[in-house]
Amino acid sequence: MVHKVKAAVVRSKNADVTLETILVPDPGPGEALVDILTCGVCHTDLHYKQGAINDDFPFLLGHEATGVVSAVGPDVTEVAPGDRVVLNWRAVCGECRACRRGQPQYCFNTHNATQKMTLEDGTELTAALGIGAFAEKTLVAAGQCTKVDPDADPAAVGLLGCGVMAGIGAAINTGNVQRGDSVAVIGCGGVGVAAVAGAALAGATTVIAVDIDGKKLQRAKELGATHTVDSSAADPVEAIRELTGGFGADVVIDAVGRPETYKQAFYARDLAGTVVLVGVPSPEMTLELPLLDVFGRGGSLKSSWYGDCLPSRDFPTLISLYRQGKLDLDAFVTERITIDQIEEAFAKMHAGAVLRSVVEL
Ligand SMILES: NC(=O)c1ccc[n+]([C@@H]2O[C@H](COP(=O)([O-])OP(=O)(O)OC[C@H]3O[C@@H](n4cnc5c(N)ncnc54)[C@H](O)[C@@H]3O)[C@@H](O)[C@H]2O)c1
Ligand SMILES: [Zn+2]
Ligand SMILES: [Zn+2]
Repeated sequence: MVHKVKAAVVRSKNADVTLETILVPDPGPGEALVDILTCGVCHTDLHYKQGAINDDFPFLLGHEATGVVSAVGPDVTEVAPGDRVVLNWRAVCGECRACRRGQPQYCFNTHNATQKMTLEDGTELTAALGIGAFAEKTLVAAGQCTKVDPDADPAAVGLLGCGVMAGIGAAINTGNVQRGDSVAVIGCGGVGVAAVAGAALAGATTVIAVDIDGKKLQRAKELGATHTVDSSAADPVEAIRELTGGFGADVVIDAVGRPETYKQAFYARDLAGTVVLVGVPSPEMTLELPLLDVFGRGGSLKSSWYGDCLPSRDFPTLISLYRQGKLDLDAFVTERITIDQIEEAFAKMHAGAVLRSVVEL
């Protein structure tokens, strides 16, 4: 059977998001059909619309979602109809060279549904990050469904599906922040503020939030920053050094992803500390650094894809901390909107007015 549902689609580069009827097939082997409850609007959806990810239009947007499994393919055992799930974009294969050496968080062959969702005329859709959850139903690989407690607010926990997990994981998994560490986060949008919260959760005692927008710094403070630096007014490298006894921070996270913020992170880090790049640069950007400084300052320069998370391990842990009141996921949900308000949500994101707008389906 094919399901006809309403969904948010972008047909060509920079075209407005339109509501379309799409056709979603019943699940085949290894697949699950999911009724979507909520889906956050992420910066990456905007990148898709702008053609910055690839040219495989039309895109079915949306990838930070909570839903309920409505049907599974014949061989699926990991989830069953009725399960509450958060969708992930790291369904690990178990067979690639990363998985085989026990590092599935770097899996190079993650799974998506094999069947395609289409427009009514049969045009195949490309689902954002293999998910496509601005839709009443979507089809994913069963491994993209992480079973979660049904009691938690779907809008809040669904954000673990992308941006919030990316930020928390950049601190905890990639940066390996330890109790007593000093951490600085450059860029405090949804991802950066999540990195601030992650650093606080890991026991960092100095957490410095850096942004060019005062509103963002205020939110970062509410989520665990001990100090803030407005880098439109002060040199962030000097400010971070001053706040860390003249040395620099143990871990500096660049959640913007520009050459100038990366250089700030590089020089604001203590000798032998760690830089984590989680912001995504655009293709034309290049970086120039004295190689002697790269050598002489020691330490490590790391990149963080999806917070180096393992959804099966990290989502339930973070939801448990949320339910214990130790991680304020609710604070990331700035507003709840309907599926016809996605363009407005992009505008608010651009203006820096929201951490996350969440579509309720
Ligand atoms: N690595 C991953 O797996 C992953 C996952 C999701 C998102 N991302 C990326 O993370 C980045 C941040 O995403 P977001 O949703 O938080 O975006 P956002 O637009 O909400 O936030 C960006 C923040 O950076 C600040 N900023 C911009 N220029 C700055 C500068 N020069 N100095 C200091 N602050 C500056 C802005 O004021 C804003 O607060 C994006 O590049 C996004 O694509 C990465
Ligand atoms: Zn793998
Ligand atoms: Zn995202």
